[in-house]
Amino acid sequence: MAKPIIDTEYLKEIEKARRELRAFISNKNCAPIMLRLAWHDAGTYDVNTKTGGPNGSIRNEEEYTHGANSGLKIALDFCEQVKSKCPKITYADLYQLAGVVAVEVTGGPTINFVPGRKDSNASPKEGRLPDAKKGVPHLREVFYRMGLSDKDIVALSGGHTLGRAHPERSGFDGPWTKEPLKFDNSYFVELLKGESEGLLKLPTDTALLEDPEFRRHVELYAKDEDAFFKDYAESHKKLSELGFTPH
Ligand code: HEM
Repeated sequence: MAKPIIDTEYLKEIEKARRELRAFISNKNCAPIMLRLAWHDAGTYDVNTKTGGPNGSIRNEEEYTHGANSGLKIALDFCEQVKSKCPKITYADLYQLAGVVAVEVTGGPTINFVPGRKDSNASPKEGRLPDAKKGVPHLREVFYRMGLSDKDIVALSGGHTLGRAHPERSGFDGPWTKEPLKFDNSYFVELLKGESEGLLKLPTDTALLEDPEFRRHVELYAKDEDAFFKDYAESHKKLSELGFTPH
């Protein structure tokens, strides 16, 4: 499918969608699931075959019914409401814009958003997103396939500062932090504290403590929120632009 033409009209539509998303996400308190949608559309990228990535393909039933995407139909339907008001925007841009706005309205860093992603109908085979039950080698395998680094793995895992797991979606239960609608560095603070009543730690979360290179970043982000925000904003931008060359 063709790239959208980034003229003043398209840019105006992006700004309108940004405003619509801000209002919608604040009203519905749905920042967590919108961020998860953006990440799951982008996180299928394969740097070797240049397939998958932030291309809107998660809107296809074939892909949103993958086990890892359980529950994300809710976020797709939310985005459809914005799309009906801003029809020129590609789904690929819309989902990534929703992720950026979700981080911003919950108090996280500003993430530079460059529009122009094209939509694809080609969904990758199931199995490209990380499995929460696995450990360090699996995390590296999956994120390196995307073309991302150790630092990106830790910074992006900080996305679990938002939201919670739902037993009927993933089989896991509970939030990672005490304020799951606030984007801050508390994910790393809680991770270092260890077991805490009512808070969740996935095997892939605790894996970040086991590897010295990962752990170095966890410790930095727990004590220095500015460092986390700076690295998170960079890694999120990279994630949102996998396989995408702006005009
Ligand atoms: C939720 C796994 C990385 C953002 C979840 C859930 C699982 C999971 C099992 C619970 C889903 C549910 O039951 O509703 C993983 C694994 C990762 C990973 C294995 C590998 C490192 C990320 C990244 C981001 C992210 C990179 C964003 C930058 C979220 C958010 C939620 C979530 C915001 C909460 C969704 C909600 O409240 O509805 N993740 N995740 N995750 N994930 Fe991740």
